[in-house]
Amino acid sequence: MEEYSWPLMEDIVNEEDKGNLISFIKTTKRYTQFTKVRDFENIYSEWQGCKYSIFVNSGSSANLLLIDTLKEKYGWNDGDEIIVPAITWITNISPIFQCGLKPVFVDINLSDFSFDYKQIENQITKKTKAIFITHLIGFPSNVNKIKEIIKDKDIKIIEDCCESHGATIDNIKVGNHGLASTFSFYWGHHITTIEGGMVCTNNEDLYQRLLLKRAHGLARELPKELHEAYKKKYPDIDFEFLFLTNGFNFRNTEFNAVLGLSQIKKLDKFIEIRNKNYDRFYEICKKYHSHLITLHNPGISSFTLPFIFKDMNKKQQFQKRLNQEGIQTRPMIGGNLLKQPFLSDYKNDRFTNADFIHHNAFYIGNNQFVGEERLTRLQNIMEDFFNTKMNKESRIYISGHTGLVGSALVKLLRAQGYLNLILKTHEELDLRNQIDVEEFFQAERPEFVFMFAAKVGGIKAHLNTPAEFIYDNIQIQNNLIHLSWKYNIKKLLFLGSACIYPTNSPQPIKEQYLMDGKPESSYESFAIAKISGISMCQAYNKQHETNFITVIPSNIYGPGDHFDLENSHLLSALINRFHNAKTNQIQEVTLWGTGTPRRDLLYVDDAAKACLFLMQNYNSSEVINVGTGSDMTVREIGENVKQTIGYNGEIFFDTTKPDGTMKRQVDTAKINSLGWMAETSIKEGLEKTYKWYLDNLIINK
Ligand SMILES: Cc1ncc(COP(=O)(O)O)c(C=O)c1O
Repeated sequence: MEEYSWPLMEDIVNEEDKGNLISFIKTTKRYTQFTKVRDFENIYSEWQGCKYSIFVNSGSSANLLLIDTLKEKYGWNDGDEIIVPAITWITNISPIFQCGLKPVFVDINLSDFSFDYKQIENQITKKTKAIFITHLIGFPSNVNKIKEIIKDKDIKIIEDCCESHGATIDNIKVGNHGLASTFSFYWGHHITTIEGGMVCTNNEDLYQRLLLKRAHGLARELPKELHEAYKKKYPDIDFEFLFLTNGFNFRNTEFNAVLGLSQIKKLDKFIEIRNKNYDRFYEICKKYHSHLITLHNPGISSFTLPFIFKDMNKKQQFQKRLNQEGIQTRPMIGGNLLKQPFLSDYKNDRFTNADFIHHNAFYIGNNQFVGEERLTRLQNIMEDFFNTKMNKESRIYISGHTGLVGSALVKLLRAQGYLNLILKTHEELDLRNQIDVEEFFQAERPEFVFMFAAKVGGIKAHLNTPAEFIYDNIQIQNNLIHLSWKYNIKKLLFLGSACIYPTNSPQPIKEQYLMDGKPESSYESFAIAKISGISMCQAYNKQHETNFITVIPSNIYGPGDHFDLENSHLLSALINRFHNAKTNQIQEVTLWGTGTPRRDLLYVDDAAKACLFLMQNYNSSEVINVGTGSDMTVREIGENVKQTIGYNGEIFFDTTKPDGTMKRQVDTAKINSLGWMAETSIKEGLEKTYKWYLDNLIINK
């Protein structure tokens, strides 16, 4: 069998479950249905919010047991009818035949995969005894609508919840909206007992009949308080072998119940994860609404991740592609059941939606092993398949391409063979001018935008010209972000800065701390502008379904940086000072503070590589940090610079001077988990930077 890296079903029995099974086996002498089965039934009733639960050996058995029992209880005749949807599992139909009843098929709808509600009314006859709803792949059916259609007719509602444990209608779990309901705990369902199923009801008489029929029709299966009456009524039959009705043997074992007891504790968590995955899946898919039908209904308890293509050929190509990528697919349950040989006697030309789903839909697995990594992979595959991923021919605009990161990215993109880079200097295009920028978008039609253009500067500039920092940056952002949406670009990357995080953030700084407090006051107007840029990207993603990502790097250094003492960052300032001390044979360099503050220094080529990686692999509205994942003290940084430059003097620390922020390191767990790591050591980065400094600022001076 082919090995899939994302299979439809995965082993959700964990060590804890196995431990519970082992300790049960070691201590029990009873394996057939007994107290563990009763415990599981009671706990399931509690979880489900119903009075009675009957544990059986499969969801299919649950269906057959229920229908057979209902037929007996209500005296239905052979040939009486049960309305069923054209897409459901086959053992929702077979039991109807097995009980001598007749299934009457109704097409499905494309909004919740349940009945085409309008058609139900036409199918109701004098013989209609029940409507057997299926809450398909975790989508709750509109039971209220069905009740309106039935009005006061004596038609029972039964619910198949085998794929929708915990889905809700008006905040009430599915399975509680009719006379009785069925559940499956087969491998791959929301929880598993390997094989297993449950019938749930609030009807006491129905419950007692189900108990009898589950186990051969034996009277001893009934609640104890009823035993005496039967013993008296049939004194010449051994009560232990008193058969009250025709029954089955659908009992399950104590093993399966022990597993159920172990798994049910995790059910709510599992549903939460499945729904979180579904939300993310929906976000990914809705960008392709011209190709896909996407649904996001209240109350779902996601079973699988469905793709419904408008075009059948496209569906086939995409399904093939997913299989090649190791993602297992399957038809929507069994497709249109009326196409199955088993039901060939039924006319099947009325089932337009079921046919459509049969040909145009398939699904992939969803469970607690599916998470961000797989969903990002899926998103990348989709971007590639629908041609929204950046490739060597894409038209890529790098705003701020003469700056530190911009120039490194241009170099990197050229080296990798990207052919269509769009570059404009400040003189050619003033990004603060909306009319000019719109003309530029109209003429150049970029497909991808890297937003590095920003007014930046050292502490002194921030203190002296805060109005320029807020005005220029917000103007640039407003123009680029808004027009990127207006001109339908495929993706935008917005670069923030670590100094926009709150001053008192816990370290290392996680992305979610961004709005937890005020940024450093000396950079406030710059930080507020950058934060509004991030917020703007997120707002456009939300309202306009754009793919604008926001990136926060730690302190970047490298060739192309400013080295003048007023505008430079720590490392460039140190290079400048140590170089001057060496050239002028000054014996000591004094640094402010204790030398103990810690800094995270990211080499510019790594920053550029990270931006390219994120443009190709990251597609979420949530901010993402870029850094080395480690930091160094100012003293260590000073020693490294001294060594690189070959300065032989001493470093002194003037402890009467302030240290500044003691630590500023961004947490890189998120980007690392996607598979990106910084590559350049401080030694290598410093050597390259110093060489550039000598070549460009000293020798050519
Ligand atoms: C909708 C539906 N009903 C019934 C069943 C039958 O359950 P089981 O496999 O436990 O027999 C399934 C199985 O997946 C199902 O999807």
